[in-house]
Amino acid sequence: MNVYDSERMVEVMEGAGFEQTDRADDADMILLNTCHIREKAAEKVYSELGRFKNLKNEKPNLKVAVAGCVAQAEGEEIMRRQPLVDLVVGPQSYHRLAELEKVAHQTGRAIDTDFPEEDKFNVLGVRPKIKRAPSAFLTVQEGCDKFCAFCVVPYTRGAEVSRPVQNILNEAKELVERGVREITLLGQNVNAYHGEGFQGREYSLAALIWELNKLDGLERIRFTTSHPNDMSLDLLEAHANCEKLMPYLHLPVQSGSDRILKRMNRSHTAQSYIDLVDEIRRARPDILLSGDFIVGFPEETDADFEATLELIREVKYGQAYSFKYSTRPGTPAAERDQLPEKLKTKRLYELQTLLSQQQKTTQDSMIGRDLRVLFEKPGRLEGQLVGKSEYLHAVHVFAPRSLIGSVQSVHITASSSNSLAGSLI
Ligand code: 5AD
Ligand code: SF4
Repeated sequence: MNVYDSERMVEVMEGAGFEQTDRADDADMILLNTCHIREKAAEKVYSELGRFKNLKNEKPNLKVAVAGCVAQAEGEEIMRRQPLVDLVVGPQSYHRLAELEKVAHQTGRAIDTDFPEEDKFNVLGVRPKIKRAPSAFLTVQEGCDKFCAFCVVPYTRGAEVSRPVQNILNEAKELVERGVREITLLGQNVNAYHGEGFQGREYSLAALIWELNKLDGLERIRFTTSHPNDMSLDLLEAHANCEKLMPYLHLPVQSGSDRILKRMNRSHTAQSYIDLVDEIRRARPDILLSGDFIVGFPEETDADFEATLELIREVKYGQAYSFKYSTRPGTPAAERDQLPEKLKTKRLYELQTLLSQQQKTTQDSMIGRDLRVLFEKPGRLEGQLVGKSEYLHAVHVFAPRSLIGSVQSVHITASSSNSLAGSLI
């Protein structure tokens, strides 16, 4: 979602006469968009900021802004810790970025970490007509009411809110007109989506997907991230029958131990998750499953960890993200006794070894198959393109550049560490 937010912030500043540059030396304003989910991510902002010290001394008019969830969580503290910061803006108020830049210019500093009354998406409006890459993100839902004991999201992104269907369709149409062929619908709890639909009805995520399915020119729909407890029947049915919805599902479980799941306030069990996976696979047998895992949560014993490995062996993931538990200020689990770092490192290594084996098996099973690939951009080698399969694997193919933005059939011939290769059929 930070990628999406960054794009939108660039658009806000373009509206105020700025132009995007990737070179900090050229910039009149440097914007860091930040993540607060784990300590490592949150601390990164301060080391990044340190790099701009000399530049700021040379160019006193340079404005340095910090956006995103670190801005939301730490607010003015950022300016105290790093005085070169002129502007702090949270994820719910970045539509005011241009005004804030003006204030910072006049008074030397500006800060906005409100959750304003107005909907930022209405203020942002439709996007300027610049040609886009074939695959784009579109935020449909933000925030979370689940309060998992480890997670800062409910505090930084706020309560769960869904955008109205019409609003999303307008943005999707605009994206398609600008060359987008695949849209990934985003939300911290995307399958809890319940937006204002048509004829006074509330739409579920599945109903929204069926509306988008009608959009000419749009070829692929994806969504992320889902919570197991919000996996409704109509969404399973969409996975079975909706032609543009891709066979890929990111469904975090976090742990395979019921005791730990309870302490995490996850309100599902390992077995209910496994039963759900069975149901999903009945609806769409070839679906590729992805997950998130946390190791070393407070009180996690060897037996709890073993239960997580057991769940992974049973589910078989095609892709996964895994993390050492990181204490986050203000969350319930931060107050509990913590496990030693060394133990977390050992468990993460073991877990990732298993997950990478599963990932490799899944990827290798694509060899010999004919997949549909959306070509996104030139590859590293001359004459090569890179695209994504239905299952989100990167695929390298020698093919003419004119095929960028189109979906083609590809015969898969090889699998390497992070991608597949094949030839056009
Ligand atoms: N420590 C480690 N991982 C975390 N996640 C969220 N909070 C924490 C934390 N405090 C992970 C979860 C979530 C993903 C986005 O980040 O696995 O699904
Ligand atoms: Fe965080 Fe996801 Fe739990 Fe919400 S459901 S609190 S976003 S981990």
